[in-house]
Amino acid sequence: MRKKIVAANWKMNLSLEEGKSLVEAIVAGLPELNEMRQVVIAPSFVHLTQTASQLDEYDHVQVAAQNCATESSGAYTGEVSAAMLQSAGVHTVIIGHSERREYFHEADDQLLKKIHQALNNNMQVIFCCGEPLPVRDAGKENEYVAGQIEATLFQLTDDQMKHIVVAYEPIWAIGTGRTASAQQAQAMHAHIRSVLERKFGADTAQRTPILYGGSCNAQNAVELFACGDVDGGLIGGASLKADAFLTIINAMLQS
Ligand code: 13P
Repeated sequence: MRKKIVAANWKMNLSLEEGKSLVEAIVAGLPELNEMRQVVIAPSFVHLTQTASQLDEYDHVQVAAQNCATESSGAYTGEVSAAMLQSAGVHTVIIGHSERREYFHEADDQLLKKIHQALNNNMQVIFCCGEPLPVRDAGKENEYVAGQIEATLFQLTDDQMKHIVVAYEPIWAIGTGRTASAQQAQAMHAHIRSVLERKFGADTAQRTPILYGGSCNAQNAVELFACGDVDGGLIGGASLKADAFLTIINAMLQS
């Protein structure tokens, strides 16, 4: 049985007070989770200690950061190291989100450094990949996503891969209201699993959770999560409302 995860990516949203209220509303409606059915919440850096203390007693709801530094410590104004995150109660780091790649020009070599920083500080990584619309329109999405994985995850050991969760987020579906169809999601997730199998073997490929992200919401989560290779979701907009996020968590539990 593979681990399933629903993760909230709050991106650059919510005041400290709003974040606190949202977490209160989520935990108030939280269904029973376990080792294999987990929830992750990724607020901004500012929220992390507050969110971590709110979630302290919830063993299967983890706090994630949306980014970490490539370096361990030192004169890097504005950066936050993986060790700092770990000391703040952070369990997981999202690395390689398309918004970081596009707006902050994060390239594969930097992403790999960040992955190492997170793993070296005993945190899990949600590694994001996904193609832009012109690549999809050209029918080249499989090789594009394989390239993103080869340039980063292929540099890891089998042991390190135990701490990796992959999130497939087609850029054309992020925040656009246009979701990948269940067929498109399943096809890409199966492809990603075959790419992982080629390098790491069947055990690792079968064990690695692959989440879907991109306009996943309370309406479409059941259908997306019913796909055999979709192991949950990385949720943006719909994670900012407790009701919608709880519905998505329940969809994961039913799948
Ligand atoms: P939306 O759910 O708002 O499309 O965002 C998806 C995403 O980028 C999650 O990381």
